[in-house]
Amino acid sequence: MTAVGAEEIGNSDVVEQRIDELLNRMSLAEKIGQMSQLSAGSGYAPDYLGEGLRQGRIGAVLNVVDVETVNELQRIAVEESRLGIPLLVGRDVIHGFKTIFPIPLGQAATWNPEIVRMGARFAALEASAVGINWAFAPMIDISRDARWGRIAESFGEDTYLTSLMGVSMVQGLQGDDLSEPGSIAACAKHFAGYGAAESGRDYATTNIPENELRNVYLPPFRAAVDAGAVTLMTSFSDLDGVPATANDFLLRDVLRGEWGFTGFVVSDWDSIHQLQVHGLTADDEGSAFAAITAGVDMEMSGDVYAGQLEKLVDEGRVSIGLIDSAVASILRTKFQLGLFENPYTNPGDYPPIANEATLEAARKAASQSAVLLKNDNNALPLSVDKLARLAVIGPLADAPYEQLGTWIFDGDPNLSITPLQAIRDLVGENVEVRFVAAMQTSRSRNTEAFDAAFEAAKDSDAVLLFLGEEAILSGEAHSRANIDLPGAQAELVRRVRETGKPVIAVIQAGRPLTLTNIVDEVDAILFAWHPGTMGGPAITDLLFGVESPSGKLPATFPRMVGQIPIYYNQKNSGKPPSADRILHIDDIEERAPQTSFGMSAFHLDAGFMPLFPFGHGLSYASFEYKNIRTNQTAIARGERIVISAELSNSGTVAADEIVQLYVRDLVGSVTRPVRELKGFQRVRVEPGQTISVSFDLHSDDLAFFGRDNRRTVESGEFHVWIGGSSAAELRGEFRLVDRD
Ligand code: BGC
Repeated sequence: MTAVGAEEIGNSDVVEQRIDELLNRMSLAEKIGQMSQLSAGSGYAPDYLGEGLRQGRIGAVLNVVDVETVNELQRIAVEESRLGIPLLVGRDVIHGFKTIFPIPLGQAATWNPEIVRMGARFAALEASAVGINWAFAPMIDISRDARWGRIAESFGEDTYLTSLMGVSMVQGLQGDDLSEPGSIAACAKHFAGYGAAESGRDYATTNIPENELRNVYLPPFRAAVDAGAVTLMTSFSDLDGVPATANDFLLRDVLRGEWGFTGFVVSDWDSIHQLQVHGLTADDEGSAFAAITAGVDMEMSGDVYAGQLEKLVDEGRVSIGLIDSAVASILRTKFQLGLFENPYTNPGDYPPIANEATLEAARKAASQSAVLLKNDNNALPLSVDKLARLAVIGPLADAPYEQLGTWIFDGDPNLSITPLQAIRDLVGENVEVRFVAAMQTSRSRNTEAFDAAFEAAKDSDAVLLFLGEEAILSGEAHSRANIDLPGAQAELVRRVRETGKPVIAVIQAGRPLTLTNIVDEVDAILFAWHPGTMGGPAITDLLFGVESPSGKLPATFPRMVGQIPIYYNQKNSGKPPSADRILHIDDIEERAPQTSFGMSAFHLDAGFMPLFPFGHGLSYASFEYKNIRTNQTAIARGERIVISAELSNSGTVAADEIVQLYVRDLVGSVTRPVRELKGFQRVRVEPGQTISVSFDLHSDDLAFFGRDNRRTVESGEFHVWIGGSSAAELRGEFRLVDRD
């Protein structure tokens, strides 16, 4: 067959013509083969997959990461199958390949889309070097539930922040041109609603009204599609009674009909078969029918399409046109990737793994992702000059694997630099570092080593406590109902506290944790997520003031797990609380009259505020916001408004601040959130400097899905806030007016 030249890959007419030609030559079995992705299994993949490849029964593989094996699989597909169609080679490249970047939730905490783009670029380069051409990322499920283990893989609770980060990851993976070496196909997942699993239990059902689905959960996917993401993956979950893998409303009406998506949709692992387990279908035949008619083009790791589609077509229940359009979208991606041109990988064409630039990018990402939650009496930064002895205590101070976090199939813990190593490097001979792990793992309940921790702390000038969750406590199928620090960690904090020394907690975790039981027992908390390969040096730079912390929370930290779901952009309700109050359950008046007068939407024992709000994060600088103003008092549809404020740094160090813009639409045809993030900027402010920060909003930025579930911009009054978190108090206002 004739190869398509590089210049022709970009020519969609040529590609469409080539797709038609191929389709005309393909048997039904070969078409279904293109729609089947198989995992390599544990043996030598060519032994296991070779026959299927020769017969054209496999269009894509996953989980093969050895370049010689990948090349051999491609060779069999291209040289030994009748039509010589190259393979898609997929892998979960979620936050790095060999060099691991912070978990996506941590990357979101940088509020720096460029960091996400760069991380994905380096990951794509490392993955390309072994022949991977398709990453199952970005994961852009909105999650308002820290119990859900996969919140680690997400960009958090906010639709706007997730949309920007998702687009950046797509751009980083796919590069400027998919056919360039080092560009790999992205896969926006999990379409849709997965992050709303009931009680944060992975795979559980979701209940999302269409209006909320459209306003909160779908926009990141729309943004990814508009940014050119060539594939989407369905969710395991059930949405309004129809599992996502059979959801024609999502996959046909919205994705293709409304958004014009021309790439392809892959199921999640075995999720077509699982339609039967959900109770939607009676057998595999019903599942194949439901998935293909809904719009799932490729089956990941299952044999339902392979076993059932031919019969469904022969019986006339599934049209060949439906099959052809699925196959066309898969072939289109292969053409765009340039695989027909060159299916093989020469590792020598790529930069070395974990090179200086990659490690530097990972360090910067980790540095910008850490959030300083609290810093009483300027406990941080530490100064080498003022320390003679430093206690480094805790199970995560020197845990090269754990700092990498979840979904790091290919990550290399040998590349990790731990905080203990980095601290020793930084302080050198000047400071005596006393290290006591105190607990074997973050879950350990054995307190035998706590005496040694106490002794080390007692004789030191400051205590660094490295706490958190091991990697395995978050991620897929690793949800927790209790999100306190696990094991005996709270007890360790109290024990060390008894020394009276300054105690600084550095927490590495895959989710927001409930820190209420330790927050008053420590002087400072630096929340570092799972920071990846370069976590140690990044954390050390922050602890010693080489850099100032600049991360901001991408998800709300609850006081208690019972507050979940808790998120900043909630609805006001008819009885919003005005002042936060927490009552002790025993103090509640006896036999108080049952009345709704004066009552409000709060928990008796938790109030209504979180422990730390969305967007929160402290700095070593002192930031103050003032003088919010708009360049006009009213705008009409199609017009823009500039909202600005002054930001001063009255502190003594230069630092980055994430300036955030929130808007409230006071009256809507459906009730509107109390605040919504509409913009943010990372700015650097020198000590003593005052800068003006402006946001340019278009009326379209105020659009939402209204009563009829159509996108609308409604006139009325808007409040705006500019500040350093979602609790910002500096408020302005403007109106959107009807004008002819
Ligand atoms: C996950 C997906 C992942 C796939 C392949 C599934 O269990 O839900 O996110 O891409 O496995 O590893």
